[in-house]
Amino acid sequence: MDKFILKCSACGKVFNNFGEWFENAQTCPTCGKNRVEVVYNHDYTLLKSLIYQKNCTDNTIWRYFDFMPLNNRDNIVSHGEGNVSINRWEFLERHAANHHGIDCKIYVYRADENPATRTFKDAGASLAASVLKELGVKNYVVASTGNVANAFAYYMAKAGISLSAFIPSDALVAHSAGVSYYGQRVFRVNGDYSKAKEIAREYAAKYKIPMTGGNTDPLRVEAKRSMIFDWLRATPEFPTVYIQALSGGTGPVAIDKAIREIAHTGLIPKAPRFIMIQPSACAPMAEAWEKAKTSGFPEGWRNKYPIYENPETSIPTLATGNPASYPIVGELVRQTGGEIFSFDESRCEDIARLIAYETLVRIGPASAIALGGFFDSLKRNLIRNGDVLMINIGESIDRAPDFFTQLIYTEKQADSVNDCKIFDRTNLQSKLWDKVLNYEL
Ligand SMILES: Cc1ncc(COP(=O)(O)O)c(C=O)c1O
Ligand SMILES: [Zn+2]
Repeated sequence: MDKFILKCSACGKVFNNFGEWFENAQTCPTCGKNRVEVVYNHDYTLLKSLIYQKNCTDNTIWRYFDFMPLNNRDNIVSHGEGNVSINRWEFLERHAANHHGIDCKIYVYRADENPATRTFKDAGASLAASVLKELGVKNYVVASTGNVANAFAYYMAKAGISLSAFIPSDALVAHSAGVSYYGQRVFRVNGDYSKAKEIAREYAAKYKIPMTGGNTDPLRVEAKRSMIFDWLRATPEFPTVYIQALSGGTGPVAIDKAIREIAHTGLIPKAPRFIMIQPSACAPMAEAWEKAKTSGFPEGWRNKYPIYENPETSIPTLATGNPASYPIVGELVRQTGGEIFSFDESRCEDIARLIAYETLVRIGPASAIALGGFFDSLKRNLIRNGDVLMINIGESIDRAPDFFTQLIYTEKQADSVNDCKIFDRTNLQSKLWDKVLNYEL
């Protein structure tokens, strides 16, 4: 029996492998939809033993090889992806207790530690490169706001595959560099992310090359869902709340897939509430959600969302202005009892400075959106006594050098030693907290 199959989420048609799926241009020939999910033929008691196996030192996504859609281990293309820490941040727990009277536990999933490109996109890129290698594919296409392109550029290069990455005109120079550096092709498209996707699709069709299938792409989803297995492995309790910066929603889609897949094992008590945060200058899902919520989720609410053309967010990584995945993501958020809202992106620097001060962790702007969303969640009364939070620190500051330089706040000019006063770092703490906390929603 095959290790896995792909199944159309709409009509149930089966594809025996990724080769068949790619031959059909990643579209179901029966119903015309383009979402498939991987179904494994393994007994899930094996997954339980992989999660809890004491003598296994592999903490990458490949620990779960038997539950990844790859047939031969020799094709694995890996660089430590997924082998990241999950830290407990007690200073945030104290804040929740002291300022809001909420008793909760707070974990952060440190995707910024991924050694290849320092984002939570490395897992998907590792699996995609491995599967393409197994199929003997030599060219691949991605459209990306930046982090996906970087991760795929690295892993495809490692697999000997040429990558064409289509990025929007406002993508960071650092993102272009991260792709080009490995000899992969960057197409900087004159337009926004939607335009980049459009041209990428035409290019993929013209040259008959497979392309990442967006937020429900089974390669990205299967890899990312291993986050859930890691939470089970590395934390004493399963989260009741999951907080993440939201662009297109691969994160929540992947978590939902894992939870449905292993529901029958009894490993997971209940899905966490998805609290999804968008940057204020590109928050179409948050806008749609707010409208749907205030009008009581009327018939057809999932398909009512605005489209922002050329969104002018200062966080290009999160610049999905056309939230085509909202019908799926909105539904998941509703099912889990979660929320989607926007966070004032001009406050990301204050958040990043505070986190660097308190933890020495260098978070990128998309991670600052998630943490800002945590502070706002407390103000919005979304966190309850007894909650266990998992906050996705999705990227390191290494991904955003411009943002990094904007964080300078202790520099003084000096002409002579008379200009240089002795200082005490601990005096900064209360000022940094004040900046983060003193604002109105
Ligand atoms: C660091 C970071 N956080 C969050 C996101 C949003 O991911 P998702 O596709 O789950 O919305 C991205 C990418 O778009 C990202 O790079
Ligand atoms: Zn179908």
